[in-house]
Amino acid sequence: MPKKKGRLDFIRMKAEKEQVAWVTAYDFPTAQFAEAAEMDMILVGDSLGMCTLGYSGTIPVTMDECISHCQAVRRGAPNTFVIGDMPFGSYQINNSGAVANAVRFLKEAHMDAIKLEGGLRTAQALKSIADAGILAMGHIGLTPQSSGPLGGFKAQGLDPASARYVIEDAIAVQDAGAYALLIEAVPPELCAFIAAKLTIPVYSIGAGGPCDGQLLISSDMLGIFQSFTPKFVKVYAQVGKEITAAFREYVKDVHSGVFPDDEHSYHIRKGMEDEYLKMLKEYE
Ligand code: KIV
Repeated sequence: MPKKKGRLDFIRMKAEKEQVAWVTAYDFPTAQFAEAAEMDMILVGDSLGMCTLGYSGTIPVTMDECISHCQAVRRGAPNTFVIGDMPFGSYQINNSGAVANAVRFLKEAHMDAIKLEGGLRTAQALKSIADAGILAMGHIGLTPQSSGPLGGFKAQGLDPASARYVIEDAIAVQDAGAYALLIEAVPPELCAFIAAKLTIPVYSIGAGGPCDGQLLISSDMLGIFQSFTPKFVKVYAQVGKEITAAFREYVKDVHSGVFPDDEHSYHIRKGMEDEYLKMLKEYE
């Protein structure tokens, strides 16, 4: 079992240009699979709203839902660096509320760090959380919680003017005391520029390389989330199709009486069959 990584490992990996591989997980089994695969870290993203809870977006996700899923992931991956994602409304109202909610991720779900969206506009909340001694990761570029104002799930920083906003956000996140930054859905040139400019590790989801590591949503890369697959996702398995095929086979077997068979049944203790059937007859 490899040693659990921490912030200093991620700083060293950036210095030595060693890439960090991480995925989202929302439940116990996925966390176990990620840890067995020696994933460098795991994000319990608020994408759990769409990927696991069936919401149409991340806005309805609550703190209690995040905590519950973080707890399940922590049970499945006790030796992996796990980040809890702060849901919409948990850090926007005021800074003390943001700190209180970040503290819940550590105390109730044993997370190693938290992540929150926004650059300049949420830098004060990030600073308050970091000042409280909590490892906080910023998330800029396409930020799903504000996809409404951003005009939908759209790539960001495609032209010089909007790239400037992304750079300003990145600087604000580092200045606020974040230990790392995640950039979503911007051109690789912009992400690579920011990764080279900042001293903290900079990770990409849909922002190409080279930077300091890559994140993918597990439900996307495993072919589980059916509604849509973003352009940047490489699909590594069709687990959803496998599950549907297995369920279909099971329905067929039950309907036709093939299942359950002798192999999948418990048997009366040997030598007691007659006595057993006689006893059953008493109740006829
Ligand atoms: O919630 C999540 O999984 C995320 C990713 C989209 C980066 O924040």
